[in-house]
Amino acid sequence: MSIIYDEQSKQFHLTNGSLSYIIRILENGSIGQVYCGKALRIENPLPAPIPFKGFSNNDKSFARFEYPVYGSGDFRQPAFKLRFADGSVVAEPEYQEHRIYAGKKEVPGLPSTYTEKPSEAETLELELLDNVSGVKIVLYYTIFGEYNCIARHTAFVNPGDQTVFIENGMSLSLDLPDPHWNMITLTGAWAREFEVSDAPLRPGFQGIQSMRGISGAQTNPALILRRPATTEHHGEALGFSLLYSGNFTAAVEVDQWDITRVMIGINSDTFSWELKSTGVFHTPEAVLVFSDEGLNGLSQQFHGLYRSRLARGKWRDAERPVLLNNWEGTYFDFTEAKILEMAALSRELGVELFVLDDGWFGKRDDDHSSLGDWFPHKTKLPEGVTGLAKKVTALGIMFGLWIEPEMVNPDSDLFRAHPDWAVHTPERVRTEQRYQYVLDMGRPEVIDYLFKVLSDILKDAPISYIKWDMNRSITEPYSLSLSAEQQGEFFHRYVLGVYDLYARLTAAFPDLLFESCASGGARFDPGMLHYAPQGWLSDDTDGLERIHIQDGASLVYPISSISAHVSAVPNHQTARITPLSFRGMVAFFGVLGYELDPAKLKPEEQEAVKKQIAFYKAHRQTFQFGSFYRLVSPLRHSLSGRFAAWMTVSPDGSEAIVGVFKILSNPNQRPLTLKLTGLESAADYQVTIWETGGFAEADRHYNCGTRGGDELMNAGLMLECTDHHSPRKGDFFSELFLLKRK
Ligand code: GLA
Repeated sequence: MSIIYDEQSKQFHLTNGSLSYIIRILENGSIGQVYCGKALRIENPLPAPIPFKGFSNNDKSFARFEYPVYGSGDFRQPAFKLRFADGSVVAEPEYQEHRIYAGKKEVPGLPSTYTEKPSEAETLELELLDNVSGVKIVLYYTIFGEYNCIARHTAFVNPGDQTVFIENGMSLSLDLPDPHWNMITLTGAWAREFEVSDAPLRPGFQGIQSMRGISGAQTNPALILRRPATTEHHGEALGFSLLYSGNFTAAVEVDQWDITRVMIGINSDTFSWELKSTGVFHTPEAVLVFSDEGLNGLSQQFHGLYRSRLARGKWRDAERPVLLNNWEGTYFDFTEAKILEMAALSRELGVELFVLDDGWFGKRDDDHSSLGDWFPHKTKLPEGVTGLAKKVTALGIMFGLWIEPEMVNPDSDLFRAHPDWAVHTPERVRTEQRYQYVLDMGRPEVIDYLFKVLSDILKDAPISYIKWDMNRSITEPYSLSLSAEQQGEFFHRYVLGVYDLYARLTAAFPDLLFESCASGGARFDPGMLHYAPQGWLSDDTDGLERIHIQDGASLVYPISSISAHVSAVPNHQTARITPLSFRGMVAFFGVLGYELDPAKLKPEEQEAVKKQIAFYKAHRQTFQFGSFYRLVSPLRHSLSGRFAAWMTVSPDGSEAIVGVFKILSNPNQRPLTLKLTGLESAADYQVTIWETGGFAEADRHYNCGTRGGDELMNAGLMLECTDHHSPRKGDFFSELFLLKRK
């Protein structure tokens, strides 16, 4: 991998042999975008972008800019906008100098991808200067050798005497030469996160944004462009993902010449930043991924980078424990004795970590009170968290705890002591959601307090895991600690405060496994992944719904980050009844957990759960860290909504597991060919079926035995080949194939 600067053409070529990204210093000193896509040979500098003189007589009117400025003849959405002391907003950034070096720097105070050795990546810093104000704009690009990814962000530097306001500062802007793309976004709501929307680009502005203070269940900070013919397995796609957990914009503008501008960054509608003299402001990092191997190829680049060079710490590469969380089993209604009974039974089933969810603190018996009072509930836990944790660990199982540190109930000692810490706008109504307010995480004293109170719990009790929840959006944004001019900084400072608390806690307790959560997946984003290597994807634990949610999330997020629980039926969110085997096999393609009362399992269900956990543990490397493929996506396939299939190949290629999910039974079914992928053509595999889960026993006859990798990938598995007329055993079939390389 290399970054080459050609003096003559003034062209920078970033390439790793699979991806090329080419930009050029234009005659007027601004930066033009030349090419982004499949690798080109470095010895052929491309011609400069064509100047467009259409709308003004100056030479600033190029078609494809790298970091477009507001107010100078490019009438599209700008990448940044500054406001100077005299109220003017026109900047004229011109190339000054550049630096190319091995490795990658951190983005101060923000999550970022990283290298372990400088040789893994190369970075270009491109420094532009606005001569009149003296403001410098530094564009950072890092290209990785192993992943088809470029990490970008921007720094604004103010060496002058006068304060400058940043009114918009995107992390990434990219002008592509044509509009022949479909735009995929991940949208949804509480309990139906990661719905995949996929539509052709049209002229004009289009995209998604969050204004909730968190990335949101409604919009995930990612945007994918695929060519109309691109499938899961073939064709070009570009992915854009923002390492940020607050208000963002991910948008595309198709202009009058069919040039497609993509941008991703902090949402400028809820942002401004007072850049004082000598100040520096860093935008969050954005990651761009290119694939010419379809959407699976794109996802695997994201997965690899995020799993290995975004997530950090002891748990990054460690097999994650199978947990049991008491939430759906008891909700707020538990005693210490009940928890110990659940923990003991969990241990017998093979569970490795017991997690105590909401309701262990203050006087919290429902969701009306006590958030902020992080002291044990005296009646429920007479010997405190420490006493309970010791008793649980004495059973031979790890102990984990739920917290929601960013929140406070009006009915809490913390609120009574510090009403000013709760976010509100003076003189205005304070909106409650779930009877709670949000703490002003932009205030250092709030972070100090939370660090102390949480550290006190963590240093005394044998706690191995923390589920960090965040259960409401932010209203009446305002901080009593900021000046009138700085109020536009409120949301970003909130996010910086959350990152700061995470950074301090992960540094102080490096052995802890953190799981992020926000009413399920309302803050399941790459920013969180830097601190918490796994996240609770959705409060919806219904097996069928989970297929859709996990499938959508897998477009960007690695399987090791997707926490997936088997819960009781009828399901608490949908009232649907699905077989235990179906729920289990769906959750296998994630970090497996259970969220039910094990005392309520029938003996045969207990045996089935034991068998599931034993199987999962035996193949945990493959499930959590393997190469994951969507073979048949539930909604993006001709059998739309009726069928799904996933596959994962172990990191060393020695085994693969295929999960097949048939959602609804139908009579006189069609035979189905399922072509596998990611295998070695020349290798032979021993194929067995772990469980037929409602599929015909005949599947063993047609598929099991020694099979060639070439055969499995080209002729495929043959499913539903018999039983055309016999009655089916009900809905929600799931079947799991195990392939062992011989
Ligand atoms: C949120 C989480 C749930 C659970 C509850 C507890 O909804 O997503 O998993 O922890 O809070 O109140």
